[in-house]
Amino acid sequence: MSVNPLFTPLTLQNGTTLKNRFVKPAMSEEMGDKRFRPTKDLVNLYRQWAQGGTGLLITGNVMVDSRARGEMGNVVVEDDRDLDRLRAWAAAGTENQTQLWMQLNHPGKQSPKTMSVEPVAPSAIPLEGDNAFAFNPPRALTVLEIQDIVTRFARAAGVAKRAGFTGVEIHAAHGYLLNQFLSPHDNQRHDEYGGSLENRMRILVEIYSAVRQTVGAAFPVGFKINSSDFRPDGLTESDSLQVIQRMAELGVDLIEISGGNYENPRMQSTGNGAFFIDYAAKVKRIVNVPVCVTGGFRSMTGMVEAVDRNQTNLIGLARPLALIPDLPNQIQQGQFDHLQLEHLTTGVKLLDKKLGSLIGLSYYQAALHRIATGRPVKRTKNAWYPLGYAFKTQGLAMFMPDRA
Ligand SMILES: Cc1cc2nc3c(=O)[nH]c(=O)nc-3n(C[C@H](O)[C@H](O)[C@H](O)COP(=O)(O)O)c2cc1C
Repeated sequence: MSVNPLFTPLTLQNGTTLKNRFVKPAMSEEMGDKRFRPTKDLVNLYRQWAQGGTGLLITGNVMVDSRARGEMGNVVVEDDRDLDRLRAWAAAGTENQTQLWMQLNHPGKQSPKTMSVEPVAPSAIPLEGDNAFAFNPPRALTVLEIQDIVTRFARAAGVAKRAGFTGVEIHAAHGYLLNQFLSPHDNQRHDEYGGSLENRMRILVEIYSAVRQTVGAAFPVGFKINSSDFRPDGLTESDSLQVIQRMAELGVDLIEISGGNYENPRMQSTGNGAFFIDYAAKVKRIVNVPVCVTGGFRSMTGMVEAVDRNQTNLIGLARPLALIPDLPNQIQQGQFDHLQLEHLTTGVKLLDKKLGSLIGLSYYQAALHRIATGRPVKRTKNAWYPLGYAFKTQGLAMFMPDRA
């Protein structure tokens, strides 16, 4: 019998070995407490995932500034004050030879009204589209503030390393701050952080360099980027490829590919078939750094083919691992072939359309909560179940769009 390529280890250029090709990409768990600290539920959740066989677990986005949060229940890391709790989280997530990387993020203007009276962004350009009502218009960051954000990413990476996380991922996708800097639509600055692509990627390059300097050469540092923003004046595919090339030259250890933002949430599609695989194949032609494609993998054959054809090195499975936390173990034991994500409905078309994004995200967060509390995941097509969960945990704030 031929060896399943999904179980072939992968060694990164810095010598770190991932035991297999499965990645649990960031999913905002919303399990931080009121002081933005990791809770026991969060620790339990990561123990379950680590025991479930995934080689690399990337945490839900951890914010680097408590004044700039994207979602209720974010964990924030600004200094060593919560080191003990972070250590407990890291210990659970690294059981079973699992790599555990902390995703570091700043939401920029995608910080809802409930959390930011005046969010910050590269330029004072408000969000557009159906979700815009939930966000206050941003103000432009000063250069000093940009430099403070760079330092914050590096400091948080240092804390992650001290706590026992085995790597970090810089979130430059899904319309958050670093994606905003990359996008000519969101970034209309006239200083060294805006204009040419070189200038628009400056903050990302500075963050990467500062993080690298803090954690050293042997500690994995990855980044997540959109293949495109899917709007003509946003980050284009060709821009994204150039950013990747630059980051590869600088020594980044892993490139995770995704797409979309709050204005155009491509990453929330419920379709089958890897969404960004053609783009990933292009990336692989220009750089040698391992690539992880996230979005749309639903069948074992699809995953095997993508690795076999060298379209991607790693397979990111977000929602599938929220429903089946031991999916890699199940594949190994011949118990998994494919899954279909539920199409949830309230029974009222208009409500489904208005609340679609909330229903989808709450469904997976309810699943994470059940895993964390040792209960089997509840699979249903009834959208009132996740809506009930969202109301119970968030009250009326549930109507604020978030979690990308
Ligand atoms: C509940 C939920 C929360 C998410 N939070 C994050 C996040 O914090 N950071 C991030 O980069 N992506 C986040 N995502 C996006 C996923 O990482 C992934 O890109 C997307 O779900 C597509 O992959 P899939 O088709 O395998 O689910 C989230 C997705 C879900 C469902």
